[in-house]
Amino acid sequence: MNFENIIVEKNNSLAKVTINRPKKLNALNKATIEELHNAFKSLEEDAAVRVILLTGSGDKAFVAGADISEFAHFSVDEGATLARAGQEMLFDFVENLSTPVIAVVNGFALGGGLELAMACHFRIASDNAKMGLPEVSLGVIPGYGGTQRLPQLVGKGKAMEMIMTAGMIAAEEAKNCGLVNYVTTQEELLPLAEKIASKIMRNSSTAISEAIRAINANFEDGVNGFEAEIEAFGECFGTDDFKEGTTAFLEKRKPNFS
Ligand code: COA
Repeated sequence: MNFENIIVEKNNSLAKVTINRPKKLNALNKATIEELHNAFKSLEEDAAVRVILLTGSGDKAFVAGADISEFAHFSVDEGATLARAGQEMLFDFVENLSTPVIAVVNGFALGGGLELAMACHFRIASDNAKMGLPEVSLGVIPGYGGTQRLPQLVGKGKAMEMIMTAGMIAAEEAKNCGLVNYVTTQEELLPLAEKIASKIMRNSSTAISEAIRAINANFEDGVNGFEAEIEAFGECFGTDDFKEGTTAFLEKRKPNFS
């Protein structure tokens, strides 16, 4: 895969996607969003890839937002199209991948950057990271799912405050309010991500993909999450991983998932 704005690396079952526009603090322009979509699609189709890490290049930013220079002149219709296309192509797409995606937040995660981190299955951050949705300071609102996913993660009141003030919160505060799961030093960030990924890889990837589907069902309009869970639970019983996992337990050995 050849990309201009991102770097994709694979190391056995672990893939790392790095947004690589450090001079623009990895701001998400249209081309980067398209490349990210293509990279995630291809990694999802690669059965050897069990976990994907998403990070930003340089030591300053994960992603400092959507690329403001691209939409500053947009009309009402163009604005709505920008948000819809981005949500479908990248943010909803990542959230619904069956391969786990961990956001490795290594600096500023602002606007579309925080929205992208929130679309990942979970987040870890370095202690220099700063997170926020500053869109109202530009006269616009979050358009890549931020008004929906931030309240899901931090609660409605905190999300209201963060969005209304357009302020940034530090990594420790982000951890305290459930936005990120762990905070560590910049040096330890990637090793921590790899350690968590290796724990995930010990488990059944088919069961993990059913779990992602069931958890996501809780947040879908008109979908009964408990019903989705029952269905996904049942599906697991038809898999080789289920046979291997339960047999290995009964035989008092470690499972060897395909
Ligand atoms: N879109 C486009 N370009 C961006 C950008 C964005 N969201 N965020 C940063 N950049 C660019 C800057 O324009 C600058 O480019 P230049 O060197 O060609 O002028 C470069 O990245 C470095 O940013 P700079 O502002 O000089 O760095 P800083 O350390 O002084 O400030 C931030 C860092 C993150 C506080 C600041 O860049 C910022 O506020 N960015 C916008 C955040 C935002 O509103 N995001 C939501 C967008 S909807």
